[in-house]
Amino acid sequence: MGAQSTIDQTEQLPLVTNPDILQQAILYKINTRATARGELVFPCLPGMLNHYLQSIEKLFTTLDRPLPEDRREELKKLLATKLEQGYRTSTASMLILQYESVQPPQTGLACKVIVTTSTVGEQYKTWVDTREPPLFGSHPDAKLMATAAKLGNPDRIRILDVGAGTGRNTLPLARLGYAVDAIELTPSFAEQLKAAATAENLPVTVTEGDVLDPLMRMKPAGYQLAVAAEVISHFRDSDQVRLFLAKMCDFLSPGGVLLFSTFLTVGDYQPDALVRQVAQLSWSTLFTPGELAAAMEGLPLVPISNELVWEYERHHLPETAWPPTPWFPSWATGRDVFPMANARPPMELRWILCRRS
Ligand SMILES: C[S@@+](CC[C@H](N)C(=O)[O-])C[C@H]1O[C@@H](n2cnc3c(N)ncnc32)[C@H](O)[C@@H]1O
Repeated sequence: MGAQSTIDQTEQLPLVTNPDILQQAILYKINTRATARGELVFPCLPGMLNHYLQSIEKLFTTLDRPLPEDRREELKKLLATKLEQGYRTSTASMLILQYESVQPPQTGLACKVIVTTSTVGEQYKTWVDTREPPLFGSHPDAKLMATAAKLGNPDRIRILDVGAGTGRNTLPLARLGYAVDAIELTPSFAEQLKAAATAENLPVTVTEGDVLDPLMRMKPAGYQLAVAAEVISHFRDSDQVRLFLAKMCDFLSPGGVLLFSTFLTVGDYQPDALVRQVAQLSWSTLFTPGELAAAMEGLPLVPISNELVWEYERHHLPETAWPPTPWFPSWATGRDVFPMANARPPMELRWILCRRS
C-alpha cells in the first residue's frame, strides 16, 4: 500500500485519466523506490576543494538530488577539514565521499566523508608486490660513480647512501670496495638490500628508518661521501631539507662531499600552493633555487655543481641502461606534475653537489 491509502473520500476528487499526469505520478512512485549509492575518491589536496565540491554538486544534480544551499556550506567545511587533515598526514591520503539516497518520504542523499592514508613504506610495498624489479633501474647513477671515483682509493672511503632503496647504488659501490652504510625507510627494501649484501658478502650495513628521525644517528664525521638519489622528492617542505642537510654536515668528514637530487623550479617560476601539493602527491616535491639556498644558509656546505639529472645521466649511462626505468624521463622532467608532451614544465630534477667545509 502507498501514501494514497491515507486519503479519504476518493470519490469526491477529480478522476484523472490524462496519461501525462498519470505518468508523473508513476515516476514519483518509482523515484521513491530507486536508490542512488556510490562513492567518489579524491586525493587529499586542499587546493582542489572548490573543484571537488563542483564535481560532487554536478553528480548529485545528475542523480536528481541536488545539494541544498545550506548543506553545500556544511559539506564544504567538512571537506576542507578532511582534506587538510589527510594532506598533513600523508601525500597518499585519499578522501572518500560515500553517498546514498535516504528513505522516502525524505529526499536527497546522505553523505559520509572518510580519509584513508598510507605511508611511503606501504606504498612502496605495493611496488614490490606488483612491479618487476629492478624498481629504480639496473645501473647506478653515473653522477654518483663519477663523484666517488674522484675521491681516491675505495679502501679509504666510507659512503652513506640515504634512501638506498633496493641498493641500485649501494651494491655497485660496495662491489668496487667502498664501505657503504645505507639508510632506508621502506622495510621491504631494507630487507632486500640486507639479503643482497649478505649474499655477496659486501661491506654494507643497512639501517632501516627515516633519515629525518632525530634518533637516526650515523657515524659523526664518518663519511667522505653522502648521497641521496631520488629521495628529497619525498620530503614535505624546505624545513625537512634543511634538517637533512644539517644532518649530512654532521655525518660528513671535513672535505667530504654531498650529492643529492632535487626538483628545482626553472627561471622565475613561483609554484602556487596547489602545484606544490600536486608535486608532493607525485613524489616530485619542488623548491625554488632561493628556497634551496635558504635551506643551506649558514651550514658548512660549499656548492660545487648544479646539473640537470636527465641530461647528465642520458649522456653518461650506457645506452642500454637508458632510460633507467620507463617512468624516469617523465618524472625527472616534471611531467608527473605537469603532464605535457609538447612543452617543457617549469621544474626539473637536478644533481646538487657540495663540499663540507
Ligand atoms: C625513488 S627511491 C630511490 C632509491 C635509491 N636511492 C635509488 O636511487 O635507486 C626513494 C627511496 O627513498 C626512501 N626514502 C624516502 N624518504 C626517506 C626518508 N625520510 N628516510 C630514508 N629513506 C627515505 C624510499 O623508501 C625509497 O626507497
